[in-house]
Amino acid sequence: MKSLAISRPLLWLVLALPGLWMLGRWAVTPKLYGYGHIVADSGDWAAWLLMATLAVTPIRLLFRRHRWAQWLMRRRRDLGVASFAYAAGHTAIYLFRKASPDIVGAELSTPYILAGWLALALFVPLAITSNDIATRALKRSWKRVHRLVYPAAVLTFLHWLLAAFDPTTAYIHIAILAAIELPRVWLQRRQRVT
Ligand code: HEM
Repeated sequence: MKSLAISRPLLWLVLALPGLWMLGRWAVTPKLYGYGHIVADSGDWAAWLLMATLAVTPIRLLFRRHRWAQWLMRRRRDLGVASFAYAAGHTAIYLFRKASPDIVGAELSTPYILAGWLALALFVPLAITSNDIATRALKRSWKRVHRLVYPAAVLTFLHWLLAAFDPTTAYIHIAILAAIELPRVWLQRRQRVT
């Protein structure tokens, strides 16, 4: 029972549930839950999972002797890949709605859309190297590649800020991100780890 609670397939099932819920509502009640809802919700989940991924390192540094913190550290890549999956789904919904390369190309000059594409471009190398084969092949460079997550996070939150009609929610999330990142930098300096 305990091993089921910590199993990877169960974690993935839990991570997939919000996406299945959104797709189900979009398919069954498109008038009540339309493009505006699904594009915002998928963007939110991509950003929340990104924040969860970034929170793993400071949690591990604070609670390194706790088994649950070690388990979380082993699942950090899964959280990152899930964030990418929601971001990719979010982009696919946008592309499906626009349905024209000309419109998509023209919207690239909109600052929030450009920030979104740049964030997604930085996520691609992270997602394709988030597996055991790439980790072994890249050796020490793996950490260097994965530092791209920080500019990707900055672009993601810039995208959110610029996209929002009322930026309050975006500012609250930026404050939470700062509350995750500042202790990380401080703890890593104090414990002399990278
Ligand atoms: C590939 C490029 C991307 C495009 C074209 C795109 C497009 C959009 C659009 C059309 C919106 C809705 C704006 C509105 O309410 O009018 C949006 C919002 C949002 N996007 Fe993106 N996006 C992209 C990448 C990303 C990525 C990579 C993330 C996160 C990892 C993300 C997270 C968000 C968030 C959090 C919101 C705000 C949702 C809310 O208002 O609650 N987007 N995006």
